[in-house]
Amino acid sequence: MSVSYRADTAESSDWPEVPVMPALAHGWVLARMSALDLQAVAEIESRAYSHPWTRGNFENSIKAGHMGLTLRDPSGTLVAYVVLMPVVDEMHLLNITVEPRRQRQGVGRLMLAVTLATSHTHHLHTMLLEVRPSNTGALALYLEAGFVEIGRRKGYYPAAGNAREDALVLRRAWPGSEDAA
Ligand SMILES: CC(C)(COP(=O)(O)OP(=O)(O)OC[C@H]1O[C@@H](n2cnc3c(N)ncnc32)[C@H](O)[C@@H]1OP(=O)(O)O)[C@@H](O)C(=O)NCCC(=O)NCCS
Repeated sequence: MSVSYRADTAESSDWPEVPVMPALAHGWVLARMSALDLQAVAEIESRAYSHPWTRGNFENSIKAGHMGLTLRDPSGTLVAYVVLMPVVDEMHLLNITVEPRRQRQGVGRLMLAVTLATSHTHHLHTMLLEVRPSNTGALALYLEAGFVEIGRRKGYYPAAGNAREDALVLRRAWPGSEDAA
């Protein structure tokens, strides 16, 4: 097991209603994404998606004030990253990616828990994301984490050829610290 966090089911206390920052295994490092990460990020991105973000997309995103987070293993290798965009009182998850060879080892679950906890720390108590209906692995992870489908954007994503694919819009909300008191 490469990471110490494990959330077995949506009912499990490991996906608490109010997000809690997960512990990282020894030597793993979570950091803000910087310009120095962009080459490695773009390289993973190009292998992880049929329609990847470009290096310029990440650069613009960081310049626009979006929050990038990276996860590196004890050897310093980039394993996963997320990009988050705060919008008023909600956090939008724009990108969550695990290096393809490191997928299905619990890293995506860890990064999703980190993003939820980061949002909570920033006093944002709702997270929104879009996902392709065909991305059944990601969808399973989001549903496990307590996201619910709240809508569908027609033809949102480019698909093979000139086709388009819908996006499912998913949301997870939790009580704020003041509300929970
Ligand atoms: C989606 C993604 C972030 C998940 O990360 P991951 O590290 O592979 O996921 P985890 O190992 O933490 O899996 C957690 C759970 O999600 C579900 N899941 C993840 N990938 C799955 C897959 N390919 N097929 C079926 N279920 C999957 C499973 O329920 C899994 O639990 P289990 O392994 O105990 O059965 C990763 O696959 C990825 O980077 N994909 C390419 C980019 C992408 O599609 N990002 C999401 C865009 S919306």
